[in-house]
This record gives sequence, C-alpha cells and structure tokens, in this order.
Amino acid sequence: MNIVMINGSPKVKENNSQYFLSEVEKLIQKDNDILTFKIDNVSKYPKAIDAILNCDRLIIAFPLYVDGIPSHLLRLLEECEECAKKQNKKDIPVYAIVNCGFYEGKQTHLAIQMIENWCKKANFTWVQGVGIGGGEMLGSLKSVPLGKGPKKSLGTSLGELSKNILNNNIDSSTSSKNNIFISPNFPRFIFKSTANYHWNPEAKSNGLTKSDILRK
Ligand SMILES: Cc1cc2nc3c(=O)[nH]c(=O)nc-3n(C[C@H](O)[C@H](O)[C@H](O)COP(=O)(O)O)c2cc1C
Repeated sequence: MNIVMINGSPKVKENNSQYFLSEVEKLIQKDNDILTFKIDNVSKYPKAIDAILNCDRLIIAFPLYVDGIPSHLLRLLEECEECAKKQNKKDIPVYAIVNCGFYEGKQTHLAIQMIENWCKKANFTWVQGVGIGGGEMLGSLKSVPLGKGPKKSLGTSLGELSKNILNNNIDSSTSSKNNIFISPNFPRFIFKSTANYHWNPEAKSNGLTKSDILRK
C-alpha cells in the first residue's frame, strides 16, 4: 500500500507533527511504502500533490494555528483540490493528526472539521482525526515511550488510528463521531503552571524582556 504523510508544520527543524507521524509510521510500516512530505516551501507542492493523487491512504499532520490550518498547508490543500477535481479517480481515505499548545485536544475540533470539509470538495473520503492537546509537551518527552505515563492516551489514540489506516474498516458515514481527542495524562494545573513558567526564559532567548510580553 502507498501511504502519503503530509507534515504541515512550518518549523524548520524539530517539530511535534513529525514526532506524531513517526510514531504512526512505526505502527504501520510493515509491507507499506510510506512517503513523507514536509511542505514548507511552494516548490515542494507539485511532488506532494502528485503523490497524494496516487496514494492509497493520506495522513495529514499539522499544528493548530488560531483554531485553524496553517496558511501554507491551506494553500497546498487548495492546489490539491483543484488537481483532484480534474484527475482524481481513486477513492482515497484521509486521516488527520492535529496537535495544539493548549491542554485540551478538543481545541482542534474545528481544524479537523475543515479537513473533513476539504475532503468533500476534493472528492476524498474523510475517515478519522486525532486531536492532541499539550502537543509541545508530548512532542518534547522523547525518552518516554508511547503508551506510558503522560503518553498513555496518546499511545491508545495513535494505536487506534494506525489500526484503522491499515484495515480501513471504519464507517466513514459516522464522520465526526470517529474523531478522538486527547490530553496529556498529567495534571492540568501543573501543565499550566509549567507552561507559564517557560514564557519568560523563552522571551529572553528571543531578546525580549518580561515587560515586552506583558505589553498589549
Ligand atoms: C501562530 C501560532 C498560532 C497558534 N495557535 C494555537 C491555537 O489556536 N490553539 C492552540 O492550542 N495552540 C496554538 N498554537 C500552538 C501550536 O499549535 C503548538 O505549539 C504545536 O505543538 C506546534 O506544533 P508543531 O511543532 O508540529 O509545529 C499556535 C502556535 C503558533 C505559532
């Protein structure tokens, strides 16, 4: 099976979307050809679109940006939609992994719905989305194995997604009911205070002061 993964993070180096895709890749790689495209430059669009139109499964991972889809990914999806309307003869099942900075994965539900609507326009088959809260935290805990400690729910959700990708036996007519939203298995109040604690050192490393980040 040809599987295409689209990494929609605009970050140049390490990014959480790639971490989540890599975990899924480990679970589905047996006997499958998996191609990953990081579409952070328009010059990469034609190859990515060609691969999408010829794949058996499409997995799109991206960070939540202002409750929506990062603009460069949106542009790729628009271009892909135009090509798909002209050329797509295949029934391609689509999956999304959306991670966000807030604790609650449910924050991603609108962005997942946007991908679902895009599937309708491009004549693809929407199947399932996973919305991941605390993306920065889960992506940074490299030494914690999937399915353990704060990554317990992450392991369950990515495991379920991977099974569905391999078997494609999910009822796509139930649409949004198939989506899974998770948060880190970690107390919310500690998550919040740790996240807030990081703002000042982060500002400093970018040449800003405490008062700069408080300024409205
Ligand atoms: C411009 C911008 C907008 C963002 N908007 C949201 C948002 O609306 N809700 C949220 O929970 N996180 C938001 N975030 C946080 C990212 O979704 C989060 O840092 C994510 O883990 C980054 O994933 P990546 O490493 O795959 O790029 C935003 C980050 C940026 C830079």
